[in-house]
Amino acid sequence: MTTTRVDASRQTLVFSQNKGLPCVLYWGPSLPFSEDLDALAEATRSGITGGMLDAVPPLSILPEAARSFPGQPGLIAYQGGAPLYPSFQATGERTFRCDATGLTLTLEITAEDGVITLAHRLTADTPITLHHLAAPVLPGPQSGDILHFSGRWIGEFQANRTPWQPGMLKREARTGRSGHEHPPLAFFLEDGATNTAGTAFGMHLAYPGGHVMIAEELPDGRRQIQWGIATGTQATGTEFHSADLLLTVSDKGLNGCAVNFQRHIRDTIVPWPDKSRPRPVHYNCWEAVYFDHDLDTLKDIATRAASLGAERFVLDDGWFGKRDDDTSSLGDWQIDPRKWPEGLTPLIDHVHSEGMRFGLWVEPEMVNLNSDLARAYPDWILGPKDQIEGRHQRLLNLALSTVQDFLFDVLDSILKSHDIDYLKWDHNRLSPIPDAAQASGVLALLQRLRTAHPAVEIETCASGGGRIDAGILRQTHRVWLSDSNDAIERLRIQHDAALLLPSAVTGSHVGPRQCHTSGRIIPMEFRAWVAAQRHMGFEMDPRELTDEEAETLTRITTWWKDNRHWTMRADIHRLDSHDPAITAELQLSEDKQRFVVFAGQSETSNQILPRPLRLTALEPEARYEVTLLNADEVRHPARGNTALQSGPLTLTGATLMTLGLRLPWRFPQTMWVLEGRKLDAP
Ligand code: DGJ
Repeated sequence: MTTTRVDASRQTLVFSQNKGLPCVLYWGPSLPFSEDLDALAEATRSGITGGMLDAVPPLSILPEAARSFPGQPGLIAYQGGAPLYPSFQATGERTFRCDATGLTLTLEITAEDGVITLAHRLTADTPITLHHLAAPVLPGPQSGDILHFSGRWIGEFQANRTPWQPGMLKREARTGRSGHEHPPLAFFLEDGATNTAGTAFGMHLAYPGGHVMIAEELPDGRRQIQWGIATGTQATGTEFHSADLLLTVSDKGLNGCAVNFQRHIRDTIVPWPDKSRPRPVHYNCWEAVYFDHDLDTLKDIATRAASLGAERFVLDDGWFGKRDDDTSSLGDWQIDPRKWPEGLTPLIDHVHSEGMRFGLWVEPEMVNLNSDLARAYPDWILGPKDQIEGRHQRLLNLALSTVQDFLFDVLDSILKSHDIDYLKWDHNRLSPIPDAAQASGVLALLQRLRTAHPAVEIETCASGGGRIDAGILRQTHRVWLSDSNDAIERLRIQHDAALLLPSAVTGSHVGPRQCHTSGRIIPMEFRAWVAAQRHMGFEMDPRELTDEEAETLTRITTWWKDNRHWTMRADIHRLDSHDPAITAELQLSEDKQRFVVFAGQSETSNQILPRPLRLTALEPEARYEVTLLNADEVRHPARGNTALQSGPLTLTGATLMTLGLRLPWRFPQTMWVLEGRKLDAP
């Protein structure tokens, strides 16, 4: 047996090379380059005892039933109704062939920005029906837990921690999107791993159409982790791809994985039209006017948004067909002459005259039965006629080239005839049938549109965060993380989403004073600081703002603009807060010379004295000056000052990371913001 290794910063993968499929012998923190890989391979060899087969079936990159693998095989396929049991032989370093079944497998590997990407490509000599094709399969760590995610509308990225146990933990998204319910992200934590310490393994499937993850402990105690496209969702054919599996490892806690994913998505995945263009302060009119479009009102709103600091204005749902509510017109992408007698140009011109860019909402994959399109082309609609609708709508069948051409022509014509450089691309219903062709269809459509309009940026939205993954982000530039503009909920959602997403792509908006999805009334300072943690935007009706609220929002927006040149490229490190009422993070600049800490107090703490907040990712020996930026936002009768309220503190990184900082006591629904600067060595 020979071996080969792949390295990305802080992680190493070691594969065995033999006559059959390779096995991953090691996946973990970087190994020394001096490591003797043959000795390592020897060290992985297991013995045999009673009750076992006479050899240990290999846990290869695609575990094979034909080799008596006792768990979930990596490939489940049929031909003419009969199951296939391939047994691959190596034909090259990364190519494998099974003559008996006519299958060829290729292993794809790339390593960039601390992330290793693996995939399988499978070709069949004659058509096969694929049930399951795993991306290259990895062994799971022998200690610790699995951190995996669930969620719902206005409650995205909920973390679940599950111990390994015999049998499978299976997470499958079968509704045509990466999904609120099962974001394709998991971390495997060694015992004791936290945000800031310990060993963590991160995995993310870059695929927007539904996936499966299986974390299985085999009867012999070995553990395997498989990811693939949702089972049984691909048409019979001869060419298959597993989707790209992104891997990261950290020996500095979950943050090491998070930062690698954040950087990789920002710097390698997202196809920025112009990397040097600052992220513009965003305004979206959805929660201000909903479907009630009126030119003068929207011009007034645009003017007010601009004076608060907005630099992009997005006209949301309601501008086309006869779209007065969500029961009709999806598919009829003609401007509604009742609402827009002179078209959209007067609003676009006004927005531009206020110094803002203009964006438009679309939901191209969908159709209402109450639309001219559905009446003209009922056979373009996917799924059974008597399907249960979602938001009164259905999916167009994007596998049809006529549908692709129609949608391209409609969008191309809107973009050609208007000065629009941003689309908010929505997707509000689940697929009526599990069908991977829809995901291929939307990716192809987005690619074609971006090629024709390379300057246009696109926001991926699916009832908020229902389609967030590196697959869709290869064609888009921003995610609408959640329809919850409730700052308390948003603080938590964006904290957990930072395990994958960088600030530059994560939209976060200042919502109405009384939140439309929770009914909470939340102070402007808190709403604005939560939005300022990511790609900042507004979504409230600016006409509701008091002078004081407008002044606060303008001040915090100005801070965001003054700092975005580094915060939009900063690493987000989640802090291990020892008070569950506090959600805190440290954003560290690329050059590591400065940082900002956001410590959000969602509810009242159990103890009277705030627990010290330990920072992370600083140089222990370096000295940092730390300033409480918003000390003047204290609105309660606290007696006595903490040191931070009296002026900056200068401490070493070691002290900041071990003793931590004592923050002033405060009400719930408030955010402390601390700025830190590394001082020159004396
Ligand atoms: C759902 C989105 O998440 C909202 O932000 C908004 O765009 C509506 N759709 C419009 O119908």
